[in-house]
Amino acid sequence: MDHETSTGHVTRKTVLRAALAAGMAAPAVLMGVPALARTLTAGEAAPALTPECDDGDDPTPQQTEGPYFKPNSPLRSSLLEAGTTGVRLTVSGYVFGLACRPISGVLLDFWQADVNGAYDNTGFRFRGHQFTDAAGAFKLTTIVPGLYPGRTRHIHVKVQAPGRPVLTTQLYFPGEPRNNTDTIFDPRLLMTVRDAGGAREAAFDFVLNVPQDPGPTPTPTPTGVPGGTWAAGTGYRAGDAVTYGGLGYVCLQAHTAQAGWEPPNVPALWRTA
Ligand SMILES: [Fe+2]
Repeated sequence: MDHETSTGHVTRKTVLRAALAAGMAAPAVLMGVPALARTLTAGEAAPALTPECDDGDDPTPQQTEGPYFKPNSPLRSSLLEAGTTGVRLTVSGYVFGLACRPISGVLLDFWQADVNGAYDNTGFRFRGHQFTDAAGAFKLTTIVPGLYPGRTRHIHVKVQAPGRPVLTTQLYFPGEPRNNTDTIFDPRLLMTVRDAGGAREAAFDFVLNVPQDPGPTPTPTPTGVPGGTWAAGTGYRAGDAVTYGGLGYVCLQAHTAQAGWEPPNVPALWRTA
């Protein structure tokens, strides 16, 4: 992204930051605020840990469906059933279009392994679909999925805006040892996860390839080739500092840089300096 684009981000985030500073930081209030706000904490320069809906050219990456999808899952936002074991997990977030405007009525169909790493291929345990609300928000209540051979920890999901193609992808957990060896893993799909009294609260925002009227905030047109000291193929360690697109970034997790994982694209790997 070039400097003009960055300026656009700052402007939009500044508005949201001002809203937070005005006392809107309560989670209940944030339900009505686009999730970009949750990437910032009032009064501190918190690293942006959720995918940013920014200049409209970075939709959520797609991933393999895998062998265990089943159609016709039940309509339910909680996958918990009587006797369900496992660490409780909520995954909440928003679905945006290319202009960062939330989309209501988006179908999200989740499926995942149980605490032992097994999928239910005869019934519908740990399968369910729901729709984003009028604010473009969703919330899944489930458990932390178990591990199974060959994969890191993940949740599958299909996301479809009304009348649009299906995005099939997977969501990942930070700090999982197998994230480093799973060839399907993509850090752009890392959720933000925090402990909450023995449970986990995760957040993730989807950006769908859905054209939108950008509205009153003009979308700057990138005009240059981004550059800086960041380079694909480089092995970075936590704490390493780079520049990219005129901004400084600090590495949050060790990784080998790849095209598409530029610092502004992967908030799980880089925070602004
Ligand atoms: Fe899977």
